[in-house]
Amino acid sequence: MINYSSQFIDKNDVKAVTKALNSKFLTTGPFVKKFEEKIIKKTDSKYCTVVNSATSALHLACKVFELKPNDYVWTSSNTFVSSANCALLCGAKIDLIDIDLSTYNLDIEKLSKKLAAAKKKKKLPKILIPVHFSGYPCDLKKIYELSKKYKFKIIEDASHAFGSKYLNNKIGNCRFSDMTVFSFHPVKIFTTGEGGAITTNNYKLDARLKSLRTHGIVQKKKNTKRPWMFYQTDLGLNYRLTDIQASLGISQLKKVNTFLKKRNKISKIYDEELKNLPIQLPKRTDNFYSSFHLYVILLKKKSRDLLYKKLLKKGFKTNIHYIPIYRHPFFKRFNFKRKDFLNNENYFKNAISIPIAPHLTKKNVYKIIKIIKEFFS
Ligand SMILES: Cc1ncc(COP(=O)(O)O)c(C=O)c1O
Repeated sequence: MINYSSQFIDKNDVKAVTKALNSKFLTTGPFVKKFEEKIIKKTDSKYCTVVNSATSALHLACKVFELKPNDYVWTSSNTFVSSANCALLCGAKIDLIDIDLSTYNLDIEKLSKKLAAAKKKKKLPKILIPVHFSGYPCDLKKIYELSKKYKFKIIEDASHAFGSKYLNNKIGNCRFSDMTVFSFHPVKIFTTGEGGAITTNNYKLDARLKSLRTHGIVQKKKNTKRPWMFYQTDLGLNYRLTDIQASLGISQLKKVNTFLKKRNKISKIYDEELKNLPIQLPKRTDNFYSSFHLYVILLKKKSRDLLYKKLLKKGFKTNIHYIPIYRHPFFKRFNFKRKDFLNNENYFKNAISIPIAPHLTKKNVYKIIKIIKEFFS
C-alpha cells in the first residue's frame, strides 16, 4: 500500500540516530542546539526553538502572547485541528476564515471584511494563524498589512511548508510574521519521528519559548556555592525534542533539497498528465515556490469518494486534507455555520490528496495517472 506521503530514511539517518544513542546526552544535549542552528540557516531566521511536535510548537507560540479568556485567535477553516486547538488550550476563543478556492489557503478578501466587521464589534483577533496549506505560501505581505492596520500578531503555521518560498523569502524567515511553526512528522518534508520547531527574529520571544519548552525553568548563572540551583520562573511544559530526534533531523536536513526537488518534479508530471481532465490542479504563481507536501486535485464532475476507493483498490492510499475544523464533533459547541464556509464546503466535497513523496517511483506516479485517466474515461 502506498500512502499519500511517508518518510524517507537512509543508512546515514540510521547512523545519526546510533551516534546520538551512543553519546553522553539523550536529551538537552548538543544535537538539539546544532539542529536549531541548522534550521536557522535553512530558513534565514534569527532564532529557533525545536520541540516535540508542531502541536506543541503552536501551543507555545500562542502561550507567549498571554491569551486571556476573551481574546480571539483566528485561523483557516481548512487545516489540521492543532491550528485551532492551540488557542483553546490557552483558554482563548477561536474564529475561522473560509478558504480561497484557488489556493486553498485562507481567503484574504474574506479576512479583510471579517476584520472590518470585528473592529465594529470590538472583537478583533489578538493572533492570526495563517496556514501555508499543502506548502503553497499564503500572501503574507497582504496579511502583514492587515496585521498593522488591525494590530494582531501573526503565527505562520508552516507545518506543510519547510522549504517553501514567498517572493524570494524563505518561509520561516518571519519577515512578515512574529513566529513560524514547522512539523517534522513522518509525512512532512523531512522527519524527526515526531517533532516541530518555531522560528522567530525576536530574541525575547525565543527566550520565552525556550523556557516554556522546559517547564518554565531557567538555569541560574554559575553559582560555585550552589551549582545545583535552578528556578522555575514561568508555568511551562516538557515539550523537549530528544537528541536522538535532533540528530535524525540534522541528517534529514542534508537531504531536504533533494526531497523538495523530487516533490516538485512529481508535481510537474502530474500537472502535465492531468491537465486535460475535468479537475482543478494546484495553483502556480511566479515567485511562489511550494514544498508540495500535498498534491491536491479538485474533481469537477465525478465523485471524489469513488476515485478514493478506486485508488485504494489498486494499492494507493490517498487522503482528504482536511475535514474542515467546524465539522468536527468537538467544534460543534462553537456554533459555526456551514453557510459561512461555502468555499471550504465545495473543496471538502471534491478534494483528494494523491501520493507525492521523495521515494515515490516514476512507475508508481504513472500508475496513479493511468488510474485517474481511466476513472474519467
Ligand atoms: C497544518 C498543520 N498544523 C499542525 C499540525 C500538527 O503537526 P504535528 O503532528 O507535528 O503536531 C499538522 C499535522 O498534520 C498540520 O498539518
